[in-house]
Amino acid sequence: MVSPPSADRLDLAGLRVVVTAGPTVEDIDPVRFLGNRSTGKMGFALAARAAARGATTTLIAGPVSLPTPPGVQRVDVRSALSMQAALRDALGADLAGADALVMSAAVSDYRPAEAHAHKRKRTAERLLLELVPNPDLLAEIGARRRGAAPVLVGFAVETDTDDRVVAYARDKLVKKRVDLVVANHAGDAFGRDDNRATLVDHAGAEALGFLPKPELADRILDRVARLCHR
Ligand code: CTP
Repeated sequence: MVSPPSADRLDLAGLRVVVTAGPTVEDIDPVRFLGNRSTGKMGFALAARAAARGATTTLIAGPVSLPTPPGVQRVDVRSALSMQAALRDALGADLAGADALVMSAAVSDYRPAEAHAHKRKRTAERLLLELVPNPDLLAEIGARRRGAAPVLVGFAVETDTDDRVVAYARDKLVKKRVDLVVANHAGDAFGRDDNRATLVDHAGAEALGFLPKPELADRILDRVARLCHR
């Protein structure tokens, strides 16, 4: 007898999960921008698995070319400031609009001081581009949170040794006041269908080894479910 495909456990039913995904891009002029190598695969996998497990799922996506997963409400944004506004809409000023936020987006840390309305013309001169810092979206939310809700999950993408990657992640856990940081290497993460991550929380670090991104998403969401139901 052939057994039916295993149904998803609806262990996230009743929870509202917000996921951010992809890069943010920061316009220099109507033709050029500053961006990064994020493709959105990890965040889209998280949103797909959260919805499949029964969560009411909102996906705030930077510019990527990926289809919206079934059952997910998608909000497209471009810059860090537009992602900040979308987060405010999704979470509300009091953060009561979600039970969990998973910030997998690679948010640009800086934006051009000026966005030019017209294309800048080439000259023979050297060009200096002035950048100003963007707000840290996750740290702002961590600082505003009172109590345990919403559960907050951050990512830390680094280019260092495994030990230092975990140390940086622990730093981000404390500074951004979040519950879990998914630590990974840029070389293992960007554009790939799998990723090698370590889950870092206040109790310790769990190295997961290489996993397909949907499986890694499930491991992260297992932690989210536990934190939401504690
Ligand atoms: N993040 C954010 N807003 C920013 C930058 C990052 O919300 N302006 C979030 C990311 O979505 C991620 C976490 O913070 O969940 C860590 O991002 P990362 O780029 O690794 O760290 P930074 O805080 O930018 O620190 P650094 O680049 O110095 O490592």
